Amino acid sequence: MAEKVVVKNLYKVYGAEPALAMQMLQQGLSKEVIFQQTGMTIGVKDANFHVDEGEIFVLMGLSGSGKSTLIRLLNRLVEPTFGQVLVGGHDVAAMGKKALIELRRKDLAMVFQSFALLPHLSVLRNTAFGLEVAGVERKAREVRAMEVLDQVGLKAFAHQMPSELSGGMQQRVGLARALAVDPSLMLMDEAFSALDPLKRTEMQELLLKLQQEQQRTIVFVSHDLDEAFHIGNRIAIMEGGRIVQIGTPDEILRNPSDEYVRAFFKGVDVKKYLVAKDVASATETLTIQASGDAQADMASAIERLRAAQRNYAFVLGHDGRFQGTVSIDSMLQALAAGGATLAGACLKDIAAVPEALSLNALVGRIVKNPYPLAVVDAQQRYLGAVTQTILLKRMALEESEHE
Ligand SMILES: Nc1ncnc2c1ncn2[C@@H]1O[C@H](COP(=O)(O)OP(=O)(O)O)[C@@H](O)[C@H]1O
Ligand SMILES: [Mg+2]
Repeated sequence: MAEKVVVKNLYKVYGAEPALAMQMLQQGLSKEVIFQQTGMTIGVKDANFHVDEGEIFVLMGLSGSGKSTLIRLLNRLVEPTFGQVLVGGHDVAAMGKKALIELRRKDLAMVFQSFALLPHLSVLRNTAFGLEVAGVERKAREVRAMEVLDQVGLKAFAHQMPSELSGGMQQRVGLARALAVDPSLMLMDEAFSALDPLKRTEMQELLLKLQQEQQRTIVFVSHDLDEAFHIGNRIAIMEGGRIVQIGTPDEILRNPSDEYVRAFFKGVDVKKYLVAKDVASATETLTIQASGDAQADMASAIERLRAAQRNYAFVLGHDGRFQGTVSIDSMLQALAAGGATLAGACLKDIAAVPEALSLNALVGRIVKNPYPLAVVDAQQRYLGAVTQTILLKRMALEESEHE
C-alpha cells in the first residue's frame, strides 16, 4: 500500500535553544530534567511512523503527551526542530513558503476542536471558505459546498448563520469545510472532543460512513480510547512526547507495550473491541472435507467424533467454505435414510458467525446454543469455531489481564 505520510526521527523542542535541548536528549537526559534545567519543553521526541493511503491513523495519549504538536508538525503549523516529514513524497520540513501554502491549500485540510467558523459568514460561505481562499470562482465553489453540506446532512442549513446551529451542527460545518477542498490528507485534532457523548458518536459514525465512500487518508488526534479504537485503523499511543506503541486496536489490546498503555484499558469493557475472529479456535471443532462420497465421509466423521468424545462437526467444501453443522445423530439419521449428501445431514438453522461480529453480540448467540458456531469471512470461508468454553476462558483471561 502506498504511504501517504512518512515521519522519520522527528523532534520538536519548544524553547530558546533547541540545539542545547537536542544535545541533552542525546546525553540521555529526560524531558523533565531538561525542563527543570533549561525551561525548554520537549514537545515530540524521535517520532517514527507512516500513514497508509486511505487509512485512519489515530494519535492517542493523555493531555500534554504531544499529540497536537505532532499533528501540527505534519503541515508545519509547528516548525520541526529535527527530522523529516514526507507528505505524498514531498519533504514538508524542507519546503519553501510558497510550496507549503500550495500544499496546505490543495492537499491538506485541518479540523480543530473549536469549530473555528467565521461568525459573520453563512454556513455556505464558511463551507466554501477554503475554496474561496484558493481562488475558485463563486458558482463553482458554492456548488461544491452544497455537495459536501449534503454529505454531512446540512444542506437545508446552508443559508443560516453559524450561531443559529447547535455545537454538533457547527462541527459538521467544520468537517464540510475541510472536505470541500477534497484534501488527500485530513488532519483532525480532537475534532469531536467538545461534543456531548451522543453527538460525538454521531460524528464518529458520519466520519466512518464518509470514509467508506471516499477513503481519505486521515490523521486523527484523540485522548479517548473508545473513540480511538472505534475509528482508528491503526493507533499510535503517545506519552511524554514519545510514541510508545503503534498497532491496530486488536494488536494493542492483545499486547499493551507497557503499564502506560495498559492504564488506558482500566475500567474499559474490552469485550466491546474484540470480535468473533479474535476468539475463534481452528482446532477446537472437527471439520469434514466433503470428498464426494457422502456416506464414507459420514461414517469416518462419526468415528472421529466418538473417539474425540464430541457431538458436532462442521462440513467444509473444497474451497474451504462453510457448508453446515452436523451432529452424530443427524448423520446417523441421514445414513439410515440412505443419505447421499452431507448437506442432507446438516442441522437446520445454524448460521455461521461473521468474523467481525462483536463479542457482546456473540455472547448473546452462544448462550442459547449447545453447539459450536463456525466463524467465517466475507467469502464464507471457515476461520474457526467459537464455543461456550472458548468464550468463557477468553473473558476470564481479559478480566484478569485488564484489572
Ligand atoms: N507553543 C508552545 N510553547 C511551549 N510549550 C508548548 C507549546 N505547545 C505545546 N507545548 C508543550 O508541549 C507538550 C505537548 O503539548 P501538546 O502537543 O499540546 O499535547 P497534547 O495535544 O497531547 O495535549 C506539553 O508539555 C505542552 O505544554
Ligand atoms: Mg492537544
